[in-house]
Amino acid sequence: MRLLVTGGCGFIGGNFIRMILRARSDVVVCNMDKLSYAGNTAHMQDMERAYPGRYFFERADIADAAAAREILRTHKIEALVNFAAESHVDRSIEDATPFLRSNVQGVVVLLKAALDAGIKRFVQISTDEVYGSLPLEAKDASFREDSPLSPNSPYAASKASADLFCRSFFKTYDLPLVITRCSNNYGPYQFPEKLIPLMFFRAMRGESLPLYGDGLNVRDWIHVEDHCRGVLLALEKGRAGAIYNFGGGAERGNLHVVREILKFCGRDESLIRPVKDRPGHDRRYAMDYGLAARELGFSPSCCFEEGLRRTLVWYRENQAWVDDVASGDYLSDIRKRYGE
Ligand code: NAD
Ligand code: DAU
Repeated sequence: MRLLVTGGCGFIGGNFIRMILRARSDVVVCNMDKLSYAGNTAHMQDMERAYPGRYFFERADIADAAAAREILRTHKIEALVNFAAESHVDRSIEDATPFLRSNVQGVVVLLKAALDAGIKRFVQISTDEVYGSLPLEAKDASFREDSPLSPNSPYAASKASADLFCRSFFKTYDLPLVITRCSNNYGPYQFPEKLIPLMFFRAMRGESLPLYGDGLNVRDWIHVEDHCRGVLLALEKGRAGAIYNFGGGAERGNLHVVREILKFCGRDESLIRPVKDRPGHDRRYAMDYGLAARELGFSPSCCFEEGLRRTLVWYRENQAWVDDVASGDYLSDIRKRYGE
């Protein structure tokens, strides 16, 4: 299969490319990525050497229709997995415009290009954030695929809009399309503006840890390798038109996660600095992934505390990668965000 993976220089897309090239010897991957601040080629350069003739990189924007058409044509693409997106909620609160371009317009461009090229399978990578928020008190409540779309941040609104365009391309044109919605990922290569790597690097440097609000917001953590396994199942076995939820079955409060990181770093809790809450901050996410379990055989395999420990060991041992992605701009953006 000749596969186009978009956003493959980012966290989840990069992990997915590594996994599929290792697991499927008959797959050829073209990675299309515009290299935004979150895209990094350093960790993908070895792919060309490790998989000669099976890995190609094209620097291009998914919202560029001519580039998308050309890449589908020249690489004779048969299937597509779209990871490319602006992915950080705080940035979407500061400026929604890039989210509209990459997450909505970019998806419509890819859908149209895929339709024109007769693509056999299109997988859209979406998120649990499209469902909005659950109350902390309703312990048994979780999101199902037929839960109403109720996005709260501009990021979530852009992802929900993309999901609706995907649905329309399946209904109107029969584009063989699957949507996957996943909860919070953690693991190697996550850009260090997201909770786990951010808190780890700040704790290592003895800097304060900015915890939003009361720190009791809950996320359903899934190891990135479990998510990537789910995406591969959706690509190979997903029913056209279906939506599949993926979750880690590991609901944890933010304060708990931060305490685990402090313990690993040998630091005490005086580093925690409660800061103003994120506007529109979703209280709790929890995923019912029963449909993916029944139809795809999906189940997460990684226990959160062990997966977190392995992830932090990886970050500690890959400081060069961190130094490479964490440029001056990134550090000044973060400091501005926390009023430092
Ligand atoms: P990321 O920010 O680490 O990487 C995104 C990648 O997409 C980067 O390499 C970037 O350069 C590229 N990109 C952005 N806009 C582009 C454009 N217009 N054209 C081409 N490339 C572009 O993001 P991530 O955390 O790896 O998330 C990947 C996908 O998974 C996103 O669609 C996100 O919404 C979804 N998702 C993420 C999580 C999570 O916990 N991180 C959970 C569920 C779903
Ligand atoms: O749920 C899936 C989503 O998970 C993905 O769709 C997004 O792309 C991904 O970024 C992630 O969104 P979150 O907003 O949940 O992740 P983030 O790491 O930004 O924040 C996790 C929690 O930690 C959230 O409740 C906010 C809190 N937080 C985050 C940061 C960056 C803090 O308390 N302090 C911080 O500095």
